[in-house]
Amino acid sequence: MATDPRVHALRMSEYGIPKRLRGLRLNTSDAPWKSECQEWVDNLRDHYVTDKRPLDQYPEDWSQIGKGLLFLGPPGTGKTSLATATLLECYFEQRVPVYFLAYADYVSMSIEQMSLSDRKEPEAIARWWQIEDALNSARTAPVLLLDDVGKEHRTKSGYAENELDVLLRLRHREGRPTLITSNVPPKDWGVIYHESMGSFIQESFHMIKMVGSDRRAA
Ligand SMILES: Nc1ncnc2c1ncn2[C@@H]1O[C@H](COP(=O)(O)OP(=O)(O)O)[C@@H](O)[C@H]1O
Ligand SMILES: [Mg+2]
Repeated sequence: MATDPRVHALRMSEYGIPKRLRGLRLNTSDAPWKSECQEWVDNLRDHYVTDKRPLDQYPEDWSQIGKGLLFLGPPGTGKTSLATATLLECYFEQRVPVYFLAYADYVSMSIEQMSLSDRKEPEAIARWWQIEDALNSARTAPVLLLDDVGKEHRTKSGYAENELDVLLRLRHREGRPTLITSNVPPKDWGVIYHESMGSFIQESFHMIKMVGSDRRAA
């Protein structure tokens, strides 16, 4: 039975998909990398671990489990657009729940939530739970699009760097793939984030290096 379009509309908002990106799909994209993305979507069942499928029915090569896509390139090359089209394909075609969050928002919400933890006013408690919901979706959604890694505000405490490590490793360990967009070149991941991050992203992500001029300027 076809899903009522109103249900899809409701889900788009629940999944945090920005309004202007909700119509994006891989079959209408003209990005040269779209077939790589489609192939990944077609193989999603080998990347995502669900209790509906016994582990012995996964391919012997477990390196595919939790494997995500890393969209790399300078601003305006279409990373967010292509990653969102890929994310929406997971929802519409593979029928799994998805979630979209800018990494900067993940960090600022985590910090705000800590500042609310001792507050007793109903508004503060409601906001704490609202944030908890969003952070929890980012941790547990079958597929997460983490947008603009590298644009978050980083301080001496290393909080943002550490949280990225925790979030990505948790998702990977649980067999929940992540789509990342970033302008941080692969060689810098181990420098900006934890030293081990460089090898982690090489092993756990298929990289899509996007080149071209800024499409916003066109
Ligand atoms: N394949 C495409 N063809 C034409 N315009 C595109 C394409 N992909 C993205 N754009 C447009 O280019 C601009 C930048 O795209 P965006 O996905 O935000 O890039 P990035 O995330 O790399 O900065 C947006 O206005 C978007 O609508
Ligand atoms: Mg972007």
